[in-house]
Amino acid sequence: MTVHAHIVGWGKYVPERVLTNDDLTHMVDTSDEWIRTRTGIAERHIVAEDETTATMAIEAAHEALEMANLRPTDLNLIIVATATPDHAFPATACLVQDALGATHAACFDLAAGCSGFVYGVGLAADLISSGAYRNALVIGAETLSRITDWEDRATCVLFGDGAGAVILQANGSDGGILSSLLGADGSGGDLLYLPAGGSRHPASHQTVSEGQHYLKMRGREVFRFAVRAMPAATRQVLEEAGLTIDDLSLIIPHQANYRITDASAKALGIPKEKVFSNVDRYGNTSAASIPIALCEALEQDRIHRDDLVVFVGFGAGLTWAAAAVRWSAPLPTMPLTRRRKIWYALSYRYAALRSLVRRFVRWLAARFTKE
Ligand code: ACO
Repeated sequence: MTVHAHIVGWGKYVPERVLTNDDLTHMVDTSDEWIRTRTGIAERHIVAEDETTATMAIEAAHEALEMANLRPTDLNLIIVATATPDHAFPATACLVQDALGATHAACFDLAAGCSGFVYGVGLAADLISSGAYRNALVIGAETLSRITDWEDRATCVLFGDGAGAVILQANGSDGGILSSLLGADGSGGDLLYLPAGGSRHPASHQTVSEGQHYLKMRGREVFRFAVRAMPAATRQVLEEAGLTIDDLSLIIPHQANYRITDASAKALGIPKEKVFSNVDRYGNTSAASIPIALCEALEQDRIHRDDLVVFVGFGAGLTWAAAAVRWSAPLPTMPLTRRRKIWYALSYRYAALRSLVRRFVRWLAARFTKE
């Protein structure tokens, strides 16, 4: 029997604090009009002091798990796509695993810039189709505000924070992820990068004082790359699934700039209404943008059963990725019963307790065991 990967759960988290274009005019020399006309962005969400990529990823994962009606221990794989992990290591995916109590899951982070979430979906779908895994949690989560230079008007107006997640599940029925494609061109790596903090330029007084821990971008070149990559990847992924643009119900593109998505719609010869956009309220949340947009498209009833949806992203690397999905999850979704809600709340408490006990046992072992 051929096994397909189906999306059975989804969830998102965005921080409460909203930073508007007007707020930014008090920080840098910019205007609401410039930001709106060049990018389509009106506001973005920014993390609170105690929030991180992992804390947001965990919130999004809770929603996705509960929607899929799965236990954390049912997960076999957790991928966190991010350019802003909590630490270089351990992987943010391991922090998510610990908080969920997903004790049977393999975990790793995936660095493919804004294409990361779609890279993760493609990879997880192939691993599920191969029979290696049954339930995979794929998260896109970013805290870009912590690597943004708030004195650089060319970049600080663009980015926001947030997280989105899906659960992919093995199933013998048709539909789900039909095809995916992942691409890269490392020769464009210097168009969008974080100079310091890695092995080339480890953190030092000099790197900090020179602002080398903030992302740098050559916006125009990235723009030119994006308007070529998005339509090409969309066409190719549909072709691989034996479908055409005419079969398409909705594109959920990486949300970087409405001019990029409009230009892509034009290049594909499809109406703007078939390209989902929420960049006005979130800005560019990198790997989190597509899963957040997917959740909103579902909330707004823009996706129905059997619809053909394409996720398409581009970003640092340079990378690009697309996935064609025949929507198979029943809609509308059933709200959680009170009993299930309590069950999940208890299971996360149990996971926290389990983590604490394991740390304590390790501490005891280190204290009282010789060698
Ligand atoms: N407010 C006012 N003026 C500004 C601002 C600002 N916030 N930022 C730049 N300007 C000025 C520039 O200084 C320049 O002035 P000048 O002509 O006097 O030199 C002028 O506006 C035009 O600047 P450009 O950079 O040429 O503006 P452009 O129209 O290209 O828009 C933008 C810039 C929005 C960044 C665009 O290039 C873009 O969207 N690029 C793609 C970026 C992107 O998608 N990045 C994410 C990639 S994915 C990932 O992995 C994170």
